[in-house]
Amino acid sequence: MAIEDRIKELLDKRDKARMGGGADRIESQHAKGKLTARERLEMLLDEGSFEEFDMFVSHRCHDFGLEKQQYLSDGVVTGYGTIDGRLVYVFSQDFTVFGGSLSEAFANKICKIMDHALKVGAPLIGINDSGGARIQEGVKSLGGYADIFQRNIMASGVIPQISAVFGPCAGGAVYSPALTDFIVMSKENSYMFVTGPKVVKTVTGEVVTTAELGGGMVHASKSGVAHFLADDEKEGIQLIRKIISFLPQNNMEDPPIIACDDPIDRLEDALNYFIPDNPNKPYDVKDIIESLVDNGEFLEIHRHYAQNIVVGFARFDGMSVGIIANQPNYLAGVLDIEASRKGARFVRFCDAFNIPIITLVDVPGFLPGTSQEYGGIIINGAKLLFAYGEATVPKITITLRKSYGGAHDVMGSKQLRADVNYAWPSAEIAVMGARGAIEILEGKKLKEITDEGERNKFIAEKEVEYREKFASPYQAAKYGYIDDVIEPRNTRFRIIRSLQALSTKKQNLPPKKHSTIPL
Ligand code: HXC
Repeated sequence: MAIEDRIKELLDKRDKARMGGGADRIESQHAKGKLTARERLEMLLDEGSFEEFDMFVSHRCHDFGLEKQQYLSDGVVTGYGTIDGRLVYVFSQDFTVFGGSLSEAFANKICKIMDHALKVGAPLIGINDSGGARIQEGVKSLGGYADIFQRNIMASGVIPQISAVFGPCAGGAVYSPALTDFIVMSKENSYMFVTGPKVVKTVTGEVVTTAELGGGMVHASKSGVAHFLADDEKEGIQLIRKIISFLPQNNMEDPPIIACDDPIDRLEDALNYFIPDNPNKPYDVKDIIESLVDNGEFLEIHRHYAQNIVVGFARFDGMSVGIIANQPNYLAGVLDIEASRKGARFVRFCDAFNIPIITLVDVPGFLPGTSQEYGGIIINGAKLLFAYGEATVPKITITLRKSYGGAHDVMGSKQLRADVNYAWPSAEIAVMGARGAIEILEGKKLKEITDEGERNKFIAEKEVEYREKFASPYQAAKYGYIDDVIEPRNTRFRIIRSLQALSTKKQNLPPKKHSTIPL
């Protein structure tokens, strides 16, 4: 064959591979409002940067007449490219080929790029849109999933792993995204469940729709499985690009520093007057975060889940940080099971990838009650405590208002090896709030006062006394638990100075195989 013919053959094969399951199936994908696997990668990666692997792979199954149905690429597009010039490895499942179902060859393609990503130390991004195990391949498909799971586990904490779910992701297949660091879902067409609605009905009698069982909003708000909920795929893909911009390539590197035009000494006078005089009045801590960080840009994670704690990425003078803040606007910012788990996971991610942790504290304590105790608030609160205590990245804690009881210790206290602890003058660092303390300390006396007016007067007087002594940052500052009490408007500058000073921080854990964090 002449070389011209050979090249034509190559180009024809490439064209064929690019058509996936064929024009009709591509049309049907579009009709559902979904992009194809290749369109998604085109949108995700810098223009012209995609290098594809294994375009000519096809399945090797000879059962159920499958040998007659061969598609180049076999239902998954894999390779590498760049995001803002930085290397990432990618796979994108192609629903137009056997419903994106996973064959042995398909799994091998994913494993190959996972191995590459780990070898060179670059993030891995997987886009999921699949009917699960390729039924015709049986146990080989299950083995293929397990090969991927094992690699997800090995890569955890070494390279960032991000999953998008832009179609079905069901059965055991959910566990690959679940093993990764972030899951992005979209509002439509995106669902994840271990068993689908039909099985649920058969086993439990419960009637539930696909969206109610495992749609994007359900996982973003109820289960917390999804970290980000996008309006559509396009927004989801832009979110992935944004997440990557905050992260290092791997655990041995620091996150990229972005040129910053927001003055580091920008004073925010309004912050001096931001905290309400009434300690029980709520406010939105996101307003504070946005006024402190570079250009007000805050990428919130788990926005719809456990809203009593806020977590996300931002920058100070171009440096990536993880922010974790109690949210007085939701359940008074109390720590409960979900908030503890959400916070713990985020702290551990930041620590694994060299991202300093900035904690903004306004916490009245842990949520009391049987539902919390029966649900294991002890073990779940311990996760957050453990994550803070174990983290060796720079840790800067600013106490804005309340910091009571056990929650005070948990939220990045000095004794959990926070490097810098500042407090605003409005801070109240104490064992508990004034009212609760008076009721315990003065219990006998209160019982003796029968007149309600007298009683309230007595409580009010005692509250003033208590608040003067304990509801301030100065008791904690006296013992050095607080390094300085700062003017709120200076907070941005003080955080940046601290980050600069801590940029060479070194702290190690004692040698061990791994901790036994209370999971
Ligand atoms: C082989 C599959 C397939 C699968 C879909 N297809 N799923 N082929 N194995 N798992 C094929 C269909 O036969 C069809 O082929 C094409 O893909 C498109 O599927 P449709 O059903 O027409 O699409 P749609 O109506 O959008 O429904 C999508 C779906 C449905 C909800 C995903 O296909 C479905 O329920 N599939 C089976 C899901 C499942 O039970 N998977 C196994 C889960 S257990 P044609 O040629 O007709 O176009 C599992 C275990 C993993 O995954 C374990 C890991 C440890």
